[in-house]
Order: sequence, then structure tokens, then C-alpha cells
Amino acid sequence: MINDVLNKKRLGLELSYVEIRDFFNGFLAGSVEDYQMSSLLMAICINGMSEEEVFALTKVFIDSGDILEWDNISGIKVDKHSTGGVGDKTTLIVGPIVAACGVPVVKMSGRGLGYTGGTIDKLESIPGYRVDLNEEEILSQVKNIGIVITSQTADLAPMDKMVYALRDVSGTVSSIPLIASSIMSKKIASGADKIIIDIKFGRGALLPNINAARKLSPLLKKIGKIYNREVKTIISPMDIPLGHNIGNSLEVMEAMDVLQGKEVNNSLVDLCYDLASEMISMGLNISKKEAMDMVYKVIENGEAYQKFLDLIKAQGGKIEKLQVSTFKQNIRANKSGIIKDINAINVAKLSMSLGAGRENEDDLINYDVGVRLEKLYGDHVKKGDILATLYLPSAKKIKVEDNIFVIN
Ligand code: URA
Repeated sequence: MINDVLNKKRLGLELSYVEIRDFFNGFLAGSVEDYQMSSLLMAICINGMSEEEVFALTKVFIDSGDILEWDNISGIKVDKHSTGGVGDKTTLIVGPIVAACGVPVVKMSGRGLGYTGGTIDKLESIPGYRVDLNEEEILSQVKNIGIVITSQTADLAPMDKMVYALRDVSGTVSSIPLIASSIMSKKIASGADKIIIDIKFGRGALLPNINAARKLSPLLKKIGKIYNREVKTIISPMDIPLGHNIGNSLEVMEAMDVLQGKEVNNSLVDLCYDLASEMISMGLNISKKEAMDMVYKVIENGEAYQKFLDLIKAQGGKIEKLQVSTFKQNIRANKSGIIKDINAINVAKLSMSLGAGRENEDDLINYDVGVRLEKLYGDHVKKGDILATLYLPSAKKIKVEDNIFVIN
């Protein structure tokens, strides 16, 4: 049976639901070996999958674990997902804005691996913040303050987790059918009524270009439809980091700045307002324009920031103890001109090298380090200006390659 399935996919033929189910269940049970699964994943990467196959795989992933239901939270529950990017702290900003507008937010987030940081790591940089709420605590907190951001309680789509770990080391991450079933299985199992997905493309993303993002988008919506979940997508570029800060505490600080209206007119703020207004529009069944007006209002009157503070306090965090490293180093402009590029991957690598990310699942991370981009894309700079501040793990300065900023 294993070889029949592998040969079929190698020839680009369509697999049946039963073939997909038995092969993937076999992997979970240990009767299909890693090398056999890698071989199928690579054949899927090369030959793709029909929509029917993607629907089948999504079902197999969902059925491998628990399915949460939030019937006792009133209101339409809207969830958000990002396919991952450098400096992506949108959940920390969008969650409180949306909750301040009266849409309940129960967000189960993950830790980061590789170049994309995880929301849970960012929140754990706040001393005391608990990420292990049980279902009872989640329900009571949503009733009290309308927002929870925690790690997964139940075992949602455990098969996806196993398969993802293998994709990560077998060159099979960037496959549209595999990405679609991976994302949607977790989103459906986590019980939201409506889902917004931020699909990122470009140098710092899984998907290389906008065409790939445009292929993924309808597939996500079709899967949502099967499970009676409305799915909206936003397609956004990820060549340049989002906002100023990359690194855990630094990103929380930047989220606080945005929530207090201290930052305007940059790509991070625009994306957050866009995502938040889509979520509010979906949650309250109002137009996006009306929702956007609400977003401006809760930023201006301080309710969004207050919601963030309520969230941190409710989960035990001491925001006044949030800190960054006191050891700093500057990157300065070597000529005058306009910033024409900031390479997201190279910034992410630099931040990782300081200790802000993990290469392996059990690596420890340093919450206090990272990179602050003092200048952003399109800014005019003079020779000698500070382009970025590095927050270092120790007093020892590091050698920085000249591969981040392009000035012309
Ligand atoms: N995010 C996921 O959860 N899965 C993928 O395959 C890609 C991005």
C-alpha cells in the first residue's frame, strides 16, 4: 500500500481520501517511516494536489486531535492567523483593538522556530505573564475582559505538528496544498466562527511571490466553506521587516507604542488597522469603513491600550518589569541617500545570532535582545546617522555584515 501511494503521487495521479487517511494515520502510528513520508511530501511539493486531496488531508489532520467549541462565549468569535514574518507583532496590537471594539478574542498562539518569532515568546518576555490558561480560565477571562492570548490548551491537529516537523527538515515547507491543510486544520479545530488569514509573500516569507499567495487564498476559503467558517485573507509583502523592532521585549514595546497611537504611517500600523477592521467587520457584521472608524476611535480614546494592559494584568504579567538589554551597538549609514531596501532575512538572522530566536524546538531564547530599526524604508539619511540599534546579550560588541540596508 505504501509504495502504491508513493508511485501514484510520483506520477501525479490523484489519491483517494482512504489512501491519504491510511498513509498519514500510518505515519502517526509509526507504521509509515519518516523517509516514506518525506518521499510523499516531496512528490506533493512537485506534483501538487487536487482540491479534493487538500480537503481530504485537512480532514485527516483535524480528525487526529481535539476540536474546541466556544458555544458559551457570546458573540461571533473571530480568529486571526499569519503565515509568519519578520517583526510580525500584529496579534499583540490587533487583539486588544478588536476586543476594545466588543468582538471577543480567544487567541491560541505558538512559539517561534527559525526566523519567524512566535506571539507566545513575545508575551513571555513580560515577567509573570502566564501562557498556560486552562479552558475554565479562558472562559472566565473572555467573559471579564473580552480577550485571552494563550498557548494551545488542547491537542489541536497533532498530526500536522508531526508532519510540519518533517517538512521543516525535508525541504517541503513551501507547498501550497500542504500549507493550506496545515493552517486550516488548526484554525478549524480551534473553534472560531470566522477567520482572517494574513498571507505573506516575499523574501522573508514562506511563499516566494504574490502569485503563490493568490493561489493559496481561494484554497483557504474553500476549506473554510466546507466547515461553515467564513475565511477572509489579506495578502501582504514580507521583503522588509514589519515596523521598527525585531526581538521579543522590543516587539512588545513597539506594540505598546502603536496601541498608544505613538506610531503612525508605517507598514506595521497600516497592516494592523487593516486586519483589525476586517475582524471587527466580520465580528459585528458591519462595513469595513464603519469598523475602521471604530479602530481609530479606540486608539485615540486609549481603550485599545487599556485593553492591552487589562490582558497583561489578567494573565499575571507585570508590564512595568518589561526590559531590554542595556548593552547596545549602533549600525550607522556609510553614505547619504534614501533607504531603498531593508533585507528582512538578514535582519532576522542578525536578531537570531543575538539570541532572540531558536533554531531547535528546545533552545532557550533571550527575551532582552534584538534589533531596532531606527530608520525605515523610504527614509532620507545622512552619512553617519544611526540606522539601527542592536540590543546585545553582553558588553562584547559584534561584527555586523553590511547586508541589511541599501541606501541610494
Ligand atoms: N503556517 C502553518 O501553520 N503551516 C504551514 O504549513 C505554513 C504556515
